[in-house]
This record gives sequence, C-alpha cells and structure tokens, in this order.
Amino acid sequence: MAEPLVVDGEYLKEVEKARRDLRALISSKNCAPIMLRLAWHDAGTYDVNTKTGGPNGSIRNEHELGHGANSGLKIAISLCEEVKSKHPKITYADLYQLAGVVAVEVTGGPTIDFVPGRKDSLESPEEGRLPDAKQGVSHLKDIFYRMGLSDKDIVALSGGHTLGKAHPDRSGFDGPWTSEPLKFDNSYFVELLKGESEGLLKLPTDIALLDDPAFRGYVELYAKDEDAFFKDYAESHKKLSELGFSPVRSSNKEFAKSSVIIAQSAVGVAVAAAVVILSYFYEVHRKTK
Ligand code: HEM
Repeated sequence: MAEPLVVDGEYLKEVEKARRDLRALISSKNCAPIMLRLAWHDAGTYDVNTKTGGPNGSIRNEHELGHGANSGLKIAISLCEEVKSKHPKITYADLYQLAGVVAVEVTGGPTIDFVPGRKDSLESPEEGRLPDAKQGVSHLKDIFYRMGLSDKDIVALSGGHTLGKAHPDRSGFDGPWTSEPLKFDNSYFVELLKGESEGLLKLPTDIALLDDPAFRGYVELYAKDEDAFFKDYAESHKKLSELGFSPVRSSNKEFAKSSVIIAQSAVGVAVAAAVVILSYFYEVHRKTK
C-alpha cells in the first residue's frame, strides 16, 4: 500500500529546496538527459485501463530497474539519492518528476508546471510497457494510447530526444539526435525532416513520426515554430508526469490561504513598525526645536 502523503507548507518548502539542489546538481554534472529519461521511464509505464504503473517511484525497485528498457538508469537513481538524503520528506515519485522538469528547464526548455503530491509504490508493472525503439507507428500508438496520451503528445514528447544520446552498451543504439545534445530546442524536428545526417541518430520510432500523416503535421509545425513546440511540450510533459495522479488540492489551498495570512501579517507588522519609527523621529524633531 502507498504511504499517505500530506502536501502541507513544509512539504512545499522542501520541494523548493530540492528544486534548487537539482538545478545545481544537473548543471554541474551535465546529467539533464538521463534525468529526463528517468522521469519518463517512471511515468511511461502507466496503464489507463488498469490504473497501474505511472509516476510512482517504482522504477527504483531492483527488478524494474533491471528491465531492458531501463538500462543505464541506475546512474540517475543514484544522483537523485543525493537530493533525497537531504530532503527525505519528498517522495521518490515527486523527486524523479521534479528532476525531469528541472532537466528541461536548465537546458533552456520550457517551464513545466510541477504539482507535488505523488505517492510512492513498491509495486512494479510487468516488463514491456515502455516503447520498443525498433518498432513503428502502430506500436507507438498502442503504447501511448495505453497511457491515455494522444498523437500530439507522442510527437511533442518525442522531442525529448533533443537532449542526450544513445549508448551502445545500454540500448544497442549509438549517438545523439542533434548536434547540441545539452540544449533543449526544436532541433530534433529540424534534423528529422532533413533526413540522414552524418553522426546523428534516428531510431525507427523517430522515423515513424514522418510516416503517419497525423504525426507528420506536428513534426512540420514544431520544426518551423519552436514556440509551438515549447507550448505543446510543456503541456504533454505535465500530462505524462501526472498520469494516474490527482493533486491534493485541499491542502494546497490551505497552504495558499496560510501564505496570504502570513503575507498580510507581515504587511501589518511593517506598517506598525513604520508608525513607531516615524513617531519617534517626530518626537525627537519636536524636542530639538
Ligand atoms: C517514443 C518512444 C521512445 C523510444 C522508443 C525511446 C527510445 C530511446 C532509446 C533507445 C534511447 C537510448 C538509451 C541509451 O542507449 O542510453 C533513448 C534515450 C533518451 N530518451 Fe527516449 N525514447 C522514446 C521516448 C522518449 C520520451 C517521451 C522522452 C522524454 C520526454 C525521451 C527522452 C530520452 C532522453 C533524454 C534520452 C537520452 C538519455 C541519455 O543521454 O542518457 N524518450 N530513448
């Protein structure tokens, strides 16, 4: 059973501290690509029909981490552990998704709205829920529709390959998709439309985005309009990061209310202090006259 989780003011403060630590860690270690891949592989196991899998931190379990698709992700799990040990209150589920959001942000991508409150699970889904890079259009649709995502989400999220590279010892594929794999931009789509490029990778599932008319329309749009890509990517990434998760709104509201009260009392204290100081100066001024 998942632990109950209360997203109170203290939890939100820890999330902000973890966000800062992740920014520093990801920038100094240049590990944005693998952090994004970790967030995606934890979330991408979701099944909308059985409501199993999803962003619940279960990827840290030894046997799920051992699934073929997750090869290499132990590195990202260990890096996240550094942040978790400083902020133990934060669930793994939130931490991995926050790492994904920060990875996109620090490499120049769009700001993705992050809502905390995901619960951890120790139940891992069976192997085979993540996409197989050697397949085509119908496989991509089967996998992403199972998550409850759309054609637009498939194309926008595939743009995550603007970051990073494939490693022969992990997936059997080799090389980056773009010439600047630490920069989040729309070059993945530009390269995809250009066709073969010396030294750059295209997986069969990347090429599949050109084969389906519904997919191709988005590829063409994102290649010529980076703002459109950033807007859609931010929406699709948020959806992916919240599969099967309903934010705990009441406690967020409570926190918002208490922040307003704190802010109001701070203003009150400042006004009172100003009155005291002014009357003191007035008195001093009167006496010296
Ligand atoms: C559409 C289906 C997808 C397939 C078949 C796929 C497959 C792959 C493969 C084979 C690799 C190479 C792994 C390695 O050798 O290190 C990879 C890397 C990567 N994938 Fe995907 N992927 C897909 C979707 C996504 C999505 C939706 C995202 C994020 C939104 C994403 C983000 C990444 C990143 C950032 C890397 C680079 C990791 C690194 O540099 O270490 N992928 N993907």
